[in-house]
Amino acid sequence: MALRSQVVGCGAYLPAQRVTNHDLAARLDTSDEWIRQRTGIGERRMAAPGELTSDLAVHAAERALADAGMSGGDLDLIVLATATPDNTFPATATKVQARLGMHRGAAFDVQAVCAGFVFALATADNALRLGQASTAMVIGAETFSRILDWEDRSTCVLFGDGAGALALRAVSDPGPQGRGVLSTHLHSDGRYYDALYVDGGPSSTRHSGFLRMEGREIYRQAVQRLSEAVDEALSANGLSAADLDWLVPHQANSRIIDGVARKLGLSPDKVVSTIEHHANTSAASIPLALACAVADGRIRPGHLVLIEALGGGLAWGASLVRW
Ligand code: ACO
Repeated sequence: MALRSQVVGCGAYLPAQRVTNHDLAARLDTSDEWIRQRTGIGERRMAAPGELTSDLAVHAAERALADAGMSGGDLDLIVLATATPDNTFPATATKVQARLGMHRGAAFDVQAVCAGFVFALATADNALRLGQASTAMVIGAETFSRILDWEDRSTCVLFGDGAGALALRAVSDPGPQGRGVLSTHLHSDGRYYDALYVDGGPSSTRHSGFLRMEGREIYRQAVQRLSEAVDEALSANGLSAADLDWLVPHQANSRIIDGVARKLGLSPDKVVSTIEHHANTSAASIPLALACAVADGRIRPGHLVLIEALGGGLAWGASLVRW
């Protein structure tokens, strides 16, 4: 019988330090009003000095393991989505593997920037469905505060740090509601490489660089590409937007989120939004939002959840999950 990846636990972690728009306005030519109106962001969290992407990832994964009633030794696979690894190599996932007490299987990073969590979920789901692993931890973890140009008001106000994780288990009988990852859909278009990038790296400049973005172009692409990806995910499963319980989008900007929901004809109360308190945490934003909506009882077993994200590359994708 065909295998399916079921979500058996989720967890999230946010660093303690809150940075409000007012805090930013005290040192930059910006305002709470401008940031809220353009993005929906009110505050973001920032990792403490010495607190690394791996630390955030370990906290989130430990919470997902506890939620699943599992320990690190039960895991066959870790796929960590990040664009802000602790070091250029090795994969941050291997540090997380050791700290979770997992001494077998495989752990590696995937890099699709803000779309990273969808790419990581697809990678783990494929491994589980092929029988290459029976359990997996999919993590999105980022410390974007380390790659921001804090003099550039057009980018530094948009991002925050955080991590989220989902524990998956392969099941051969998904049950009457057919719980599990129904499908994943990945895309990229490298012609837009320069629309959102970091102006450094080991092969180009030998230092890690800062984030640069053509905001308007990204905005225009995001609404269009994400709407196509969610249509693709729904039609691949013979479903329509009316069947959805929740849309859990990448939290980049409330106007992008509203634009996609409007195109789907989805009422705002079916959209999980954490942008006001988390800002854009790149690959961490979807699992952070999922963990919030599970913790407050909105997402429940059997619910149909659609996730979607777009980021640098451009890379984008969507996935339908029967929770
Ligand atoms: N505070 C005050 N003024 C600002 C700020 C700021 N933080 N940033 C820019 N401005 C000014 C600009 O200098 C410009 O001033 P000018 O007209 O005097 O030149 C004015 O505001 C308008 O700037 P635009 O860049 O045209 O502003 P826009 O309305 O496009 O909003 C934004 C910018 C919010 C970035 C928008 O383009 C956007 O949402 N883009 C999507 C990008 C995104 O979400 N990226 C996240 C990463 S990718 C992803 O995760 C999908």
